[in-house]
Amino acid sequence: MILQGKRGIIFGALDEQSIAWHVAERCVAQGARITLTNAPVAMRFGKIFDLGTRLNAEVIPADATLTEDLDKLLEQSMEALGGKLDFVLHSIGMSLNVRKGKPYTDLNYEFMQKTLDISSISFHKLMQCAMKKDAIAEGGSILALSYIAAQRIFPDYNEMADAKALLESFARSFGYHYGVAKKVRVNTISQSPTMTTAGSGIKGFKEFFDYADKMSPLGNASAEACADYCVVMFSDLTRYVTMQNLYHDGGFSSMGMSPSLLNFG
Ligand SMILES: NC(=O)c1ccc[n+]([C@@H]2O[C@H](COP(=O)([O-])OP(=O)(O)OC[C@H]3O[C@@H](n4cnc5c(N)ncnc54)[C@H](O)[C@@H]3O)[C@@H](O)[C@H]2O)c1
Repeated sequence: MILQGKRGIIFGALDEQSIAWHVAERCVAQGARITLTNAPVAMRFGKIFDLGTRLNAEVIPADATLTEDLDKLLEQSMEALGGKLDFVLHSIGMSLNVRKGKPYTDLNYEFMQKTLDISSISFHKLMQCAMKKDAIAEGGSILALSYIAAQRIFPDYNEMADAKALLESFARSFGYHYGVAKKVRVNTISQSPTMTTAGSGIKGFKEFFDYADKMSPLGNASAEACADYCVVMFSDLTRYVTMQNLYHDGGFSSMGMSPSLLNFG
């Protein structure tokens, strides 16, 4: 029970496939008490309430692009959980240009601004709101989920590559300030392709999933395994890890070529 007595907020549990869904389950199994949040529109599916009931977690709607929603979420969470927060998972991503099928060389810039606001700037907003309210306990841990397209080119990932690069940069920049002020850690976990609503929105995702699985010596990391890694990062066992982008990808990021992908006939 490495999260015994800890309090946290989990963003982004949409359905059973969501990475955040598994993180929420694993955190509670390890002794944490949590609140769950998602965009009001995501509440319509209703599944998050089932999860909330099962995990005894209050569900608090918040559009992560609105600081007034984030302020309310932080206040209500501290009230529901009885004190400052020890961890937060930002598990939010959405690209309007990808959704509308726009190619990278013909992007709509209004869509792009929305993409960056939802997928990246919301992370800065969350941390700024939390810091102003002093909502995170000393030594707390904040995580966001990223993807290796922030460093390498995966053409079909489109503008989300740039969104993830910004997300990772916010983790480093804010991690400095939060570390100095409160010893709060800020990191991103760069996860393998995972079969979720957000993941399967990318063109050719199934083929790419299989490619990454073959390329990775350990195979693709599952959402459940990602949840385990998040739990470790929220625990006191990693209290000196901050401002890092941590690959959780079965070794994919260190590979150049894999014989298992070559047909030697
Ligand atoms: N699935 C993958 O292959 C993969 C790989 C690496 C990283 N990631 C990242 O993991 C994170 C979670 O994605 P997932 O794969 O579990 O898919 P998902 O679709 O289950 O989760 C994305 C979540 O973002 C939420 N969201 C969208 N707009 C929002 C807003 N304005 N305010 C609050 N929440 C909002 C959605 O409601 C949804 O719950 C994302 O950051 C994604 O980019 C996914």
